[in-house]
Amino acid sequence: MMPKTTISVMKADVGSFPGHSRTHPKLLEKAARLLRDQEGNLLIDSFVTHCGDDIELIMTHTHGVDNEKVHKLAWDVFMECTAVAKSMKLYGAGQDMLADAFSGNVKGMGAGVAEMEFEERASDPVLVFMADKTQPGAWNFFLYKIFADPFNTAGLVIDPSLHKGFVFEVHDLIEKRMILFSCPEDLYRLLAYIGAPSRYVIKHVFRREGEIAASTSTQRLVLVAGRYIGKDDPVMIVRAHSGFPAVGEVLEPFCTPVLVAGWMRGSHNGPIMPVGVCDANCTRFDGPPRVTCLGFQLCNGELIGPADMFDDPAFDRVRGRCNELADMIRAHGPFEPHRLSPDEMEYTTLLAAEKELTSRWTPIPE
Ligand code: 13P
Ligand code: 13P
Ligand code: MG
Ligand code: MG
Repeated sequence: MMPKTTISVMKADVGSFPGHSRTHPKLLEKAARLLRDQEGNLLIDSFVTHCGDDIELIMTHTHGVDNEKVHKLAWDVFMECTAVAKSMKLYGAGQDMLADAFSGNVKGMGAGVAEMEFEERASDPVLVFMADKTQPGAWNFFLYKIFADPFNTAGLVIDPSLHKGFVFEVHDLIEKRMILFSCPEDLYRLLAYIGAPSRYVIKHVFRREGEIAASTSTQRLVLVAGRYIGKDDPVMIVRAHSGFPAVGEVLEPFCTPVLVAGWMRGSHNGPIMPVGVCDANCTRFDGPPRVTCLGFQLCNGELIGPADMFDDPAFDRVRGRCNELADMIRAHGPFEPHRLSPDEMEYTTLLAAEKELTSRWTPIPE
């Protein structure tokens, strides 16, 4: 019997140019070479890419999720890339590396991690999503549409293998607790929580029988570091077809322009724009937020691909609508709802700006 395949996607922003717009090719080359050195050893296969200023490591192996050696490899890659970034004085060099030394798992040390382990089917299409200038909860809307909305996913209606629905594992990032919602019967309860994506984040989606369907990174840098240092810029892995939504059903929700938190200084809402990798560079107002998707077929752990899924004129219209939405919300300037709500702003530099004014506030006369 073939061993189970694990796919691990790990990302970090360890420096970019100019400003927070994109990674430097030298960092990507370095990361790709270090991972390639491990193919046939710790890894089966690997692919390195970027979304905006974040380096994305896509790795396959047989060691399961949370494997210390695989996490250590990613840590070493990010540290070596940090050194390259520092040597070029790139912007925010080492930004996301919150620890001095590795301590078992890159989660909680600044990197974003999404992993899943499964027995490969006869054919196993996998989609890897990567976002810049946003937070992990940004996936909530899309995962709901993919796995719970019959107006998006035709298979929920016409494919008996999807009729039982899916189970959503939701994490409360503030209270550090989790809950399972079985849909369709828990649909409204699920929405009651995931509609607040800065706190409640879908971590995994499973088939009723327990088979993993989707996995996301849920690390929030502000909660790890206790202060604003950069946005989390999450990743997500989704399996498709044969008991899961089809590839096209997984991509379809990205045709809706939705607002997410994380644009400019991590302090503004903006439309998340699906783009091909060559357009995954954040320019206007450091954005707008981007999402890319690479598609693979797995073959005994080998990554057949990638296919650049949003590099397609079929997504031109949503990109146009995102640009219109960007104009509209940018016109608000420093006003909400472009700027995040006060509780979200607590994690930004606004607090320091407010501190300077403490002594100038006086009580309103009775
Ligand atoms: P094929 O018939 O080409 O396999 O496509 C099936 C499908 O579900 C496409 O959405
Ligand atoms: P990143 O979180 O992608 O580094 O962006 C930070 C920022 O402040 C952009 O304006
Ligand atoms: Mg950055
Ligand atoms: Mg980033």
